[in-house]
Amino acid sequence: MSITKKKLLIIYHSQGGTMERLARRFAEGAAHEEDVDTLLKPAAEAGLDDLLQCRGIAIGSPEYFGTMAGMIKDFFDRTYESAREKTIGLPFVLFVCAGNDGRGAITQIERIATGYKWRQALEHLRIVGAPTEDDLDRIEELGHTMAAGVGMGIF
Ligand SMILES: Cc1cc2nc3c(=O)[nH]c(=O)nc-3n(C[C@H](O)[C@H](O)[C@H](O)COP(=O)(O)O)c2cc1C
Repeated sequence: MSITKKKLLIIYHSQGGTMERLARRFAEGAAHEEDVDTLLKPAAEAGLDDLLQCRGIAIGSPEYFGTMAGMIKDFFDRTYESAREKTIGLPFVLFVCAGNDGRGAITQIERIATGYKWRQALEHLRIVGAPTEDDLDRIEELGHTMAAGVGMGIF
């Protein structure tokens, strides 16, 4: 008998490579949960179907000009009208990288998530400057915890 696994969607954008590294590490952590399918996609390649099929979403954005990357906003722009009645209560978590701040990106994504009526699953992670080994361990741990929660349906 085949059982459909719950899906965790991870979307990210990265111009310079830092967020790509973090998102891959997050996905590695999530992959420890064998009962959950992890789908890692650049936001530009993710769409409505990915969103409607997932049981949890993780969003990785660099902070650009005090807010989220444009491609993350674009994902929201493209999916909001069709998804907002269908993803109420979806657990989400954010991870942001930034040169010196990152709080603007978190605030703005949180506002949009409130519009979708998503639920924050875990404490968001904000990494300032070049990621350290400790940061990479923390992002892997966050991915694992998020996937475990999605798998158990506890969020
Ligand atoms: C166009 C641009 C705008 C940026 N604006 C901010 C900013 O407002 N605040 C901040 O803390 N860092 C800012 N940064 C730094 C990036 O957030 C940081 O270098 C991040 O790690 C880049 O991630 P990426 O390599 O995945 O693109 C900016 C970088 C770029 C390229």
